[in-house]
Formats: sequence, structure tokens, C-alpha cells
Amino acid sequence: MASLSFLKFAAATNNGFIHAHGRKATDALIKIIDAQADERLLEIGCGTGFTAIKLLVSADKKIHIDAVDALPEMVRKAKQNARFFRIRKGLSFQVSHIGEMLPYRDGSFDKIYWESVLGIQDTENFEPYLREVLRLLQPGGTCIMNETIWLPGITQQTVDELNQYNLEQLGLRNATPTPMDRDGWIQAIEKIGFVLMHDKLVADAISNATLDHPKENLFLLAQWQSRIKKYLMPHLALKNHQIKRKLRRFKNMPQVMEARFFVFQKPG
Ligand SMILES: C[S@@+](CC[C@H](N)C(=O)[O-])C[C@H]1O[C@@H](n2cnc3c(N)ncnc32)[C@H](O)[C@@H]1O
Repeated sequence: MASLSFLKFAAATNNGFIHAHGRKATDALIKIIDAQADERLLEIGCGTGFTAIKLLVSADKKIHIDAVDALPEMVRKAKQNARFFRIRKGLSFQVSHIGEMLPYRDGSFDKIYWESVLGIQDTENFEPYLREVLRLLQPGGTCIMNETIWLPGITQQTVDELNQYNLEQLGLRNATPTPMDRDGWIQAIEKIGFVLMHDKLVADAISNATLDHPKENLFLLAQWQSRIKKYLMPHLALKNHQIKRKLRRFKNMPQVMEARFFVFQKPG
């Protein structure tokens, strides 16, 4: 597995919404998830927990979210953030182990969601990850994902070059190890036994997606805290500068990836 060094930095600075289109994409995802009363949800790769917290505080009904992440430092921050938001029930965070079964019974969840997690897996973990999601969903349950994927026609050579650069410099790949585009993703996921319900470009979904709720300012405060930390703590400021320099390489590159929401169902 990749070193995930960029994500460890994100944990150290308590950064949230670490995926294409950031906070706006999370707002759009929450609208697509459309949580219903008493639903049980699972977030895989919850990072610092802001998405799960936002989903919980913006639902005007009782729901329960379990959230897991492979990095213990992410889970630590997520628990701190839940305390910051004074969340006492309806949400639990725990560390998971990549490639291992998650500690829940078959059919435990109505909905399972994630943001930029499946595409960064090593090839050998891609199918087992999806089989685990299939096991954990109830029949008729859905998985909802925001994934950054390759555009059609991108060559294996380009994929290898970009992924190799990112793995070396930031500890995680840009997207899948093979040039899987939208159709490739649908085929790979349907092969496991899911059925595509719909998919959409994240860029198209975010225009009217901002969520308004009483705790919105707390998210801004938490985000600003992390930004200020990045500039004030010398070792983090240096790392931040290094990461920015490494990311500059992608600035003027022709577009090779797109971010897409997919919603798949486990047949009932
Ligand atoms: C791109 S980040 C997104 C985090 C969070 N959803 C957000 O938007 O800030 C992906 C997260 O997935 C976690 N992760 C990667 N592979 C995982 C796996 N197989 N199981 C659980 N977590 C994983 C990483 O540690 C990271 O926190």
C-alpha cells in the first residue's frame, strides 16, 4: 500500500473535504445520499470526519453513521472534531485495516458512501473492497461515491507516469492503476453484482448544492483553524510549501481526469 504521506499531513493539519471540488462536492454528496429516518450508514475513508459530521448535523431526523479510516491519525482527529461539534450520539469512528473485512455483520447498512477512496486502492484491493461493500449492504441498499477517474482515451503510459509521480511525491496515486474511464468503472462495479442507478459529473452537481444549516459557521471555523496551523507551525509550513510545489506540476496540464458521482444498488 502507498505511504499516504499527503493524507498524514492532512490529518496533522485537520484538513477536511480532501477530494475534487472539496466542500461543495460533499454538500452535493449529502444531497444525493438523502438520508432517511432510522437509516444506518457507513462511510469508508472518513478522514478527519467532517463529511460524516456534516451529514449527521444536516439530517433533520435520527440516523446512525459508522465511519472508518485506515489511518489511526485520521480517526483520532475525527473523534476530536465530533467532540468540537458536541456530537454525542448517532456517529462512531473507528480504525479499519485495508484488505481486511470490516467489523460489521452482513447487511448492516442501508447506504455506504465514500469520497476518493476506491480509485486510490492498489489493484489487488479493488475487487475485495467492492465485495465487502456488497456484503455489508442490505438488499436494495445503495453505495454512493465521489471518485476521480480517468477520461476516455488516456493511455496506460500517462496513467503510469502520473501515478508514479504522485506515489513518490505525495504517497498516493491520482486515480486507478489502469486507465479505467466511466464505462470501465461501471463495468468493474457491475461485475461484482451491483446495478448502476445513476452517475453524474461532480462539476455539474455542485452548482446548487450548498447546504445551509445552523452549524455551517463551525465548519468554516474548523477549516480556518487548519489553514492557520499550516502557516504558523514551522514544520507544517515547510511541508505545506513542499506539497504546493509538487502539485504545481499538474497546474497547466491538459485535463486527463474527471470527478464523478456514482450511485450503485445491491439488487433486492
Ligand atoms: C481522499 S481522502 C478523503 C477523506 C474524507 N472523505 C474527506 O473528504 O476529507 C481518502 C481517505 O480514505 C482513507 N483510506 C484509503 N484507503 C482506505 C481503505 N481501504 N479503507 C479505509 N480507509 C481508507 C485514507 O486514509 C483517507 O483518509
